[in-house]
Amino acid sequence: MLQTPAGCFPSVRLRRMRKDDFSRRLMRENRLMVDDLIYPLFVTEGSKVREPVASMPGVERLSPDLLLDEATAAFELGVPAVALFPVIAPDKKDLQASEAWNPEGLAQRAVRILKARLPELGVITDVALDPFTSHGQDGLIDDAGYVVNDKTVDVLVKQALSHAAAGADVIAPSDMMDGRIGAIRQALEAEGFVNTRILAYSAKYASSFYGPFRDAVGSAANLGGGNKYSYQMDPANGDEALREVELDLQEGADMVMVKPGMPYLDIVRRVKDRFGVPTYAYQVSGEYAMLKAAAQNGWLDERAVVLESLLAFKRAGADGILTYFAKDVATWLK
Ligand code: PBG
Repeated sequence: MLQTPAGCFPSVRLRRMRKDDFSRRLMRENRLMVDDLIYPLFVTEGSKVREPVASMPGVERLSPDLLLDEATAAFELGVPAVALFPVIAPDKKDLQASEAWNPEGLAQRAVRILKARLPELGVITDVALDPFTSHGQDGLIDDAGYVVNDKTVDVLVKQALSHAAAGADVIAPSDMMDGRIGAIRQALEAEGFVNTRILAYSAKYASSFYGPFRDAVGSAANLGGGNKYSYQMDPANGDEALREVELDLQEGADMVMVKPGMPYLDIVRRVKDRFGVPTYAYQVSGEYAMLKAAAQNGWLDERAVVLESLLAFKRAGADGILTYFAKDVATWLK
């Protein structure tokens, strides 16, 4: 009789465990849960205002009253947290980004409304100056148009403190200035905000997948032909992302993020393996637009590809995912 060494075909047939649903379920390594979702929301001035974002079908800029409705719906579906992105009127943008730390600014007011009505919903705010600068860069610029680091950090600290004072649970610096996590952490401690968490966009790449977001917040027009290569990371680099994460953790970050998501899952895995800290990833606007466009054309099955894409984040080691699909996914998972 033919002898086959143990461990080889036909004694080992990996298809056996795939044969039935029960055994597939028993050996399933990762699961997507509503607890994994963070829902990004765009907030604009006014009341009863609902403006569609052309390049993100299904996503709208909402005035604070409707933002509250949307956040309530997500909260009731079990989504743990929302991430707020303000859309500022062009006449409020200037070279100093002064609206960024206005205690009565749009983001600050939106935080207060959400925390008053939905105290258990986690509220995450974006710390960066691009929605507030007349040139659309994430920081203050010098005469040559270069984004200056340390002066920008001073403004980011003021912005972060104004968010914490408004009641934000989590401050999420997405600007990529050096040293901002440490400066913000020290200021939060000094002002008594000892429990304000910092979610650092540690490995944020200079990505073309942010295009629809820049339309949504209106920074694309301001940015013109400009780019963010002098502060956001080069998509070619991986080791550098680990250095960024290491520094942000040393400076006091509670959580770290990789952004964009799907094309950067190798970075998520490396960060998780190396540091073992709460690690998040952002399925950004361009990823949303891609999936949505294909689904709308009937080329992809929306629900199936969205769930698969988010499961892939989990498999890569992400503890949670920022996704514009969060509310839909929470509904599907119910
Ligand atoms: C800017 C910021 C960006 C995003 C979140 N915060 C865009 C950028 O860096 O130009 C992108 C999010 C998305 O594309 O969904 N501070």
